[in-house]
Amino acid sequence: MSNKTIFCIGAGYVGGPTMAMIAHKCPDYKVIVGDIDDARIQAWQSGQPPIYEPGLAELTRSSIGRNLFFTTDIAKGIRDADIIFVCINTPTKSFGMGAGRASDLQYWEKTAREILEHATTDKIVVEKSTLPVRTAEAMERILRSRGGKVRFEVLSNPEFLAEGTAVHDLEMPDRVLIGGHETEQGQAAVRELAKIYSRWIPQERILTTNVWSSELSKLAANAFLAQRISSINSLSALCEETEADINEIARAIGMDQRIGAKFLKAGVGFGGSCFKKDILNMVYLCEFYGLQEVADYWAHVVEINDYQVDRFVRNLLVHLFNTVADKRIAVLGFAFKADTGDTRESPAIRVCRKLVEERARLVISDPQALENARRDLADVADRIEFEPDPYVATQDAHAIALLTDWAEYRHLDYERIFKGMVQPAFVFDGRNLLDHHKLYEIGFNVYPTGKAPMSHL
Ligand SMILES: NC(=O)c1ccc[n+]([C@@H]2O[C@H](COP(=O)([O-])OP(=O)(O)OC[C@H]3O[C@@H](n4cnc5c(N)ncnc54)[C@H](O)[C@@H]3O)[C@@H](O)[C@H]2O)c1
Repeated sequence: MSNKTIFCIGAGYVGGPTMAMIAHKCPDYKVIVGDIDDARIQAWQSGQPPIYEPGLAELTRSSIGRNLFFTTDIAKGIRDADIIFVCINTPTKSFGMGAGRASDLQYWEKTAREILEHATTDKIVVEKSTLPVRTAEAMERILRSRGGKVRFEVLSNPEFLAEGTAVHDLEMPDRVLIGGHETEQGQAAVRELAKIYSRWIPQERILTTNVWSSELSKLAANAFLAQRISSINSLSALCEETEADINEIARAIGMDQRIGAKFLKAGVGFGGSCFKKDILNMVYLCEFYGLQEVADYWAHVVEINDYQVDRFVRNLLVHLFNTVADKRIAVLGFAFKADTGDTRESPAIRVCRKLVEERARLVISDPQALENARRDLADVADRIEFEPDPYVATQDAHAIALLTDWAEYRHLDYERIFKGMVQPAFVFDGRNLLDHHKLYEIGFNVYPTGKAPMSHL
């Protein structure tokens, strides 16, 4: 039995699910999640999480009111806690030095000061947000600035969950990483945190490192994942020129055990709140330390991603006879990937903006992300329809642009859709999700990613 209290600051995509899992697995810990966003807290508290994630509502409800609570009272949360997780957002800086690349640490610093202000007993502070290397050190300096009696031990414990599979990833993570200081207190804090995870995660998957390695490992993991996507996407452009097939290439290289099969799916590019932000953050760090070549190397991963999105739009434009002005284009999928309503940095945003610039009449459909889509495109929303039903969305459209790999799009009645569309009808499959041969037989002109087009024209 522990009788310890955990407080988590930030009830977003990371804080909410992570705490729901800890509360579920550790019923003897009291887990309280705090956020400044009242609407978010109310949604969590009602058992209807404010984010869509398979299995999350059930997981949350299993502990809510028992040992899982949500609050906007941050001060009390801090006071009562033994362990504080910080899961706030860490956006890219939009102003001043490092604008567009460095991490904006103002919210992080404010949180550190808040912890300092309200803490009256010793705390373990767990940095779960993704942060630049040596942020924990800055946090420690703030927490120790008053020289009071309260001791703070800062740990780095980055989160590796992926949206869409968060519950599964939290339940069976490849590894949990805990970075702590090599002092006696530091190691005691590491053990305290490891004790929580060891309730359901095998010991050999709980890695402990020094704080800086842990912080950099998270940036490095995202950079490597994004790099694989940009690598396969760069080759998809070459495939379209040479009639090689990117799926066949992915299969052939993926069977090499040194390479592995995962994250080799070509598409319209990666999105999500993390990849771009974390790589740019690493680029900034490299520049800061005078490592320009290393910075340039990683910056290209992001550039290829933008290139891939632009290439998608260019392809669409060229094949629709060089104009989409006044043509109805049905965008299927707006979330940055399937099984989430999250649209942060979704390639769909850039695609839709460019198509609006070309004066297309857009109709966007998505099973979970329409509300976010409306918000992301608020300034041009008067020129866009938002339609949950894909059959209505595709009615009278000249082309379909498939941008999210929702499984349900694979099973639509494309004969029916084809009949409702303006002829010649086009499909641009930005996720290589659909059965291209079947679509071609129905009569569509089909433009996959990284494969030869199948055109009747
Ligand atoms: N989303 C992911 O898949 C993912 C995965 C791994 C790591 N991360 C990292 O985790 C961190 C959080 O990401 P997220 O996607 O959960 O962000 P999010 O925007 O969904 O959630 C952050 C929450 O923190 C709250 N918040 C901000 N400042 C606060 C304050 N001072 N006091 C109380 N609440 C405050 C916000 O209101 C928001 O609800 C980021 O650093 C991100 O890079 C995200």
